Order: sequence, then C-alpha cells, then structure tokens
Amino acid sequence: MLKFVVDQQVEDIEMPENLKLNTFLQEFHSDCPHPECNFGFYGFAFGQSPFPVPKLIQEALVKNVDKGAYAAVPGIPELRSAISKYNKHYFEMDIAPERIYVGPGTKELIFNLLEILHGTVILPTPAWLGYLPQIRFLKKNYHMLPTRANKKISPNDLRKLALRLQDRQKILILNNPNNPTGLLYDRLELEEIADVCKEQNIIVISDEIYALTTYDFSKFVSMGKIYPEGTFVTNGLSKSHAAGGYRLGYVIFPQHAIDLRTQFKKILATEYTAVSTPIQYAAVAGFEISKEIDEYFEVTRNIHQIMGEYTFHALTSIEGVKVTKPDATFYLLADFNAYATDLQKAHITTSQKLSESLIVHPYHTAIVGGDSLVLERTDFSARIAYVDYDGAKVYQNYLDNKPKSYAEKIEFVKKNAPKVVAGIDMIADFFGKLRKDMLYDAEGKNSLAVP
Ligand SMILES: Cc1ncc(COP(=O)(O)O)c(C=O)c1O
Repeated sequence: MLKFVVDQQVEDIEMPENLKLNTFLQEFHSDCPHPECNFGFYGFAFGQSPFPVPKLIQEALVKNVDKGAYAAVPGIPELRSAISKYNKHYFEMDIAPERIYVGPGTKELIFNLLEILHGTVILPTPAWLGYLPQIRFLKKNYHMLPTRANKKISPNDLRKLALRLQDRQKILILNNPNNPTGLLYDRLELEEIADVCKEQNIIVISDEIYALTTYDFSKFVSMGKIYPEGTFVTNGLSKSHAAGGYRLGYVIFPQHAIDLRTQFKKILATEYTAVSTPIQYAAVAGFEISKEIDEYFEVTRNIHQIMGEYTFHALTSIEGVKVTKPDATFYLLADFNAYATDLQKAHITTSQKLSESLIVHPYHTAIVGGDSLVLERTDFSARIAYVDYDGAKVYQNYLDNKPKSYAEKIEFVKKNAPKVVAGIDMIADFFGKLRKDMLYDAEGKNSLAVP
C-alpha cells in the first residue's frame, strides 16, 4: 500500500488545543454510560457567541449569492470603505480604506502578519490558544511575557524583556479586550505600553476582535489610536457580530507602511486570492452604521455583561477561587490554585487532568485548562466561557423584559441560562468534595478523577 510521508514541519506541530478539546468532548459524550447525560455537558469551553447573525447581514448575503467573480485581493472597495467609516464611528479613528486589508478571519490575517514581519514575538500570558501554534509553525523566535496578579502586561516587565532580546525588531501580541481574562486595558495602560514599544522598537499586533463586546463601550480605546505608527489592528465579524463561521476579518496597517502593504498583498494573493465575494458583500451590512447593528451590539453586550457578572460572583463565592472581573468578551479566568495540594492528593497533577476530571460523570463540565492558555501545565487556572444558552431566545427575552435591578438580573440568568447556573454549581460541588477528601469512593478508589 502507498505510504504517505508528511512533511516534518507539519509533524512537529501539535493539534491546536481547541480542536483537541472538541475531539475529547465528542469522545467523552459518546462514551458516557449514564442515561441522564443525554444533555451533553455544561459548556464553558467554546469561545463562540451564542447569538444569531444580525438579520441585515443574513439578508445581504442572500441578496449577493450571484456574485461569482473573484474579488480584489485586499477586499471589495465597498467593504473597505464601510470598515473605514465603522472605525471612525466606533473607535474615532481616521483610517483611509487603502490601509485596510480584508481576510478570511483575523486568525489567518495574524498568521499572514507574522509571515511578513521579521522579529522576535513577545506573547503575554495567559493567552488565547490560537497564537502559539502559528508562531511555532512559522519557526519564529518567541518569548512569553507572564502577567502578574492583575493579569495585564506590566510595562516594566515588557521593557526588561525587550532589553534582553537581541533582535532589531520585536512584535508584541496585544489582545484587548482579552481572551481569556475578559479584561480591558484603559487609555493610560495602553499609553504606558506604547511608550515602551517606541523606546524598544516593538511593533504591535493589536487583536481587538472583542472590542465591540466591551460592556461600557465608552471605555474602549484602540491601540491603533495610541500608537498609530507601529500598530496593526485586527478585528472582524466573528465575535461582535456572532459570525465566526463567515470567516471575515480585517487588518488596519500602521500609518505610512506602504511598502509593507505591497508585501502583504503578495502573500494574500499567493495564499488565498481573496475572501469569498458574497461574504464580503454581506459584511458591508455588518460594518455600515445602522440603528439595527447598533442595537444588536447594545443588547448582546448587555446580556454578556449580565451573564459575566453572575458567573463572576458565583465563582468568587467558592472558597479560595480567584476570578478576573470581566469588562468585555464572554470569558473570565478562574484561578483554582488554592486547591493545588488537594488536587495533587487526588492525583490531579496538571491542568489538563483537572479539565478531564471535571468533564467526567457526575460533573459534565467543560472548561479550558491552564496549559491551553499558554500557562504552566501545573497552573490550575481555567477559562470559563459563559455562553451555554440559546442566544436567539435570550435575545428576545431580554428585549421583552429588560432586567434592571441586581435581583432581576440574577433571575434573568436563572431563567435564561440554567446550564450556566448548574455548571457553576457543579464546579463548586467538585471543589467542595475535593477539599473534604470526598472525591474518593468507599473503597478508596478515585472514582471521579481521570487517571
Ligand atoms: C483573541 C482571539 N483572536 C482571534 C480569534 C479568531 O477570530 P477569527 O474568527 O476572526 O479568525 C479568536 C477566536 O476565538 C480570539 O478569541
């Protein structure tokens, strides 16, 4: 039989964590023998907005199904112009359409940027699980920049690291608002980071895919505004417009980077020619300023905030658990390291094992563990995505009866997101039993933890 030999470069790449998790959950689901597990699991693992794609975008897609021609490499002019106006309206940035390149998702565009930019990559941690496999695949030099207790980049630490790096150019990956912490950098924090970047010749890829989910949107400031000469801003439809499957993102090039744009165009033309033309026309409706889209942003961010506050308070009330209080996104980071000794006693020695122990019966709770967030394998922190509910229904229920008081908001979560509530209860139950040494059954076997 013919034997295929896979290129060594690909062999060396690990399966991205999100796909590993997917496979693991599917296998677990089909293997669980308990009939009550038909519901699947409490899903805190997947980073996907639960809401429907805005109607305007859906309709525009239908209207443009006949657009069969290839589009221009950087994107159709209508879309680049709409994105330029969108940036003016929401982020107060004057971006000429020529500085905007459209691609099949920001993940691909970040990869393309890393392809064309020379330099050592600085990756603050914890981080979204998407960056590291790309950096490794491209065989780039990289350094982690662990954050401190506040989970944000320390300008001093950034300076110290940059001084140690020999490269004439460094690339900082800034993710603001942040996945997995849900935290937002304020203007002053960005200015302090930008000062170090200017001083140390660091260019910034500012992944702002969650910008429009910022709960108090007046607080969001783009790094593109603070450091326009050295920042590549990426954003798109995936999170704010709940359209990850459309695969459409954009990058704004720094001012005056004209030569670089030519190089970038070469890469895009070599790799994928252009984004699907009907999708680009549909995206125009998503970036054009309209009452409908504005209302969509407001409603969805309010619901994310309500779910986030509930999740924050419920997890904080578990003894010893430290939780980031999200300003944006639909995630927070929960730190279970206070239980490290108890976990080790129960033979749960890595964050991967913690995720596995929580997914088995009776907990059925899916989280993303620390090593998937570029933390140490023994760091018992986890990303909790509070999106396990029917987005279309909850959107309508919110419009019908907007909860105002704290009590109404709690009621709203209990009624609309029972799996979020039950899943957090399961996490509390797990750690409660762990502390009381009750993860073991009568025969002394660890019945619940996966070996
Ligand atoms: C921080 C971050 N950046 C980028 C992406 C990818 O976005 P896109 O769908 O535009 O490729 C994600 C998706 O999960 C994300 O969380």
